[in-house]
Amino acid sequence: MIIVPDPKLLKSLLMLAAVVEARDPFTGGHLWRMSCFAGLLGEKIGLAEDELIQLKLGSFVHDIGKIGVPESILGKTDHLNEAEYAAVKTHALFGSQLINDHPLADLFRTIIRHHHERQDGQGYPDGLADDAIPLHCRIIAIVDAFDAMTSTRPYRRNMPVGQALYRLKQQRDRQFDGALIEHFLELGEAGELEPIVRHSSAGIPMVNCDHCGPVVAASGAVKDGDFIYCKVCGGEFRLHHNSGSFVAEPTGGHGAARQLQPEVDEAPIDELVKQASRALVIAPPLTGY
Ligand SMILES: [Fe+2]
Repeated sequence: MIIVPDPKLLKSLLMLAAVVEARDPFTGGHLWRMSCFAGLLGEKIGLAEDELIQLKLGSFVHDIGKIGVPESILGKTDHLNEAEYAAVKTHALFGSQLINDHPLADLFRTIIRHHHERQDGQGYPDGLADDAIPLHCRIIAIVDAFDAMTSTRPYRRNMPVGQALYRLKQQRDRQFDGALIEHFLELGEAGELEPIVRHSSAGIPMVNCDHCGPVVAASGAVKDGDFIYCKVCGGEFRLHHNSGSFVAEPTGGHGAARQLQPEVDEAPIDELVKQASRALVIAPPLTGY
């Protein structure tokens, strides 16, 4: 299989994935963190450059099927009931069907379909087990769960990194690939995960909206004194630069419609497209596909 990605086509798909992600007001910065965590783990296990970039691209697009999940479920501030959880689970299969005839489908189809499979075969949509689950999907499953645990949800606070790693460890060879978990734990012990956890881009920590709860995520292009807005209640925050990072302070004001429209941080997308154009001119089949 030869993959020759068209940069504009690739960027438009990544932008679309980012807008789909922005429909969930509690997961700001999730895609950036996913591609960082997945990239670190992929590097640690020695993936070649072309495989690494395909993994990072896949981590950006994996949840594109959530476009089919109602907003009332994505934005729910309480635990999901059984029917709602079943609706969320449709996103893996639906996403793979959605992009099936896209010219770049070969880059993404497998990750989109199989990122919720489990080592013990209890995952979805196909109940694959062990090495039948493609390597990239086993990586995405780990970093997705880690990001979920270390992020604040409306019904629970974020878990400290050490506790989240401990939970992952408990699920070795049940939910997750045990060997990959060992590598991920080593990244945690080396402190390589901390600068990414609860950040929306490098050096930009997320804050929770004081008024209604969702996270307020700023893009990497912000500067001291910029305003950012909660996309749910419209609450306004001013950013202050503080020892290499940013602090968001609520102003009590509200944003206008233009300021509350979905925002896509283009910088990490442009960087991925650049890396892909370099590494994927002619790419071999992905491992395990
Ligand atoms: Fe997912």
